[in-house]
Amino acid sequence: MARRKKIYEGKAKILYEGTEPGTIVQYFKDDATAFNAEKKDVIDGKGVLNNRLSEYFMTGLTQIGVPNHFIRRLNMREQLVRNCEIVPLEVIVRNYAAGTMSKRLGIAEGTQLPRPIVEYCYKDDSLGDPLVTEEHIAAFGWASQQDMDDILSLALRVNDFMSGVMLAVGIRLVDFKIEIGRVFDGDYQRLIVADEISPDSCRLWDIETGQKLDKDVFRRDLGNLTDAYSEVARRLGVLPNSNVTKPTLIN
Ligand code: C5P
Repeated sequence: MARRKKIYEGKAKILYEGTEPGTIVQYFKDDATAFNAEKKDVIDGKGVLNNRLSEYFMTGLTQIGVPNHFIRRLNMREQLVRNCEIVPLEVIVRNYAAGTMSKRLGIAEGTQLPRPIVEYCYKDDSLGDPLVTEEHIAAFGWASQQDMDDILSLALRVNDFMSGVMLAVGIRLVDFKIEIGRVFDGDYQRLIVADEISPDSCRLWDIETGQKLDKDVFRRDLGNLTDAYSEVARRLGVLPNSNVTKPTLIN
């Protein structure tokens, strides 16, 4: 049996060369890290849940015409995605103050923002992914002005989609992070949503109780992370044994 080629191993995923040209396989690990990997653990089942949930969100985005890297799920932990050149930015959209925004600006967590606020961080673990402005992005050539217009539009479309999907199951989308990939179709380049969308990269609070159903459960030692992610998957009807009757996208 031929051994497949590992392209990259990150904190939560491993990327392998894909089975078709222009594709890669994303393997979702159970590893959880926080605070730039200062806090680490292995959370049984997290990878399986994130693989399913990212599939669910990316498939929904495709259905509303938001381009993204997802091709198909291969198995419990792996999905085939389009190979793309990742723009070195973490694109964060916030609807309510929380996390670093609350710390930086002294706004109480949970305060609704006057409108969605988009932030950019430069993707560099050794620097702790610092917040940057569009001036930095343009001056250092990380993305062009046209790219920034497209990135903003993608980020806000993902925000509207994710906010609606979550609201329908009683969950508030507080904030999230996406990554953007560059793909080339002949002479043209396009930007697409890449990486993953999962409770690892979103803040999700139960609307009634305020209970956290995202990675803050791990970051802040608030209980069992798999239980929190399973609750999100159960409400969305993503878990195969779910007893919630909803349109499912599980196969
Ligand atoms: O930590 P901060 O408040 O800036 O995070 C904002 C959002 O971006 C949160 O949903 C968090 O989970 C996500 N994020 C991420 N990866 C990072 C930084 C933030 O997924 N490296």
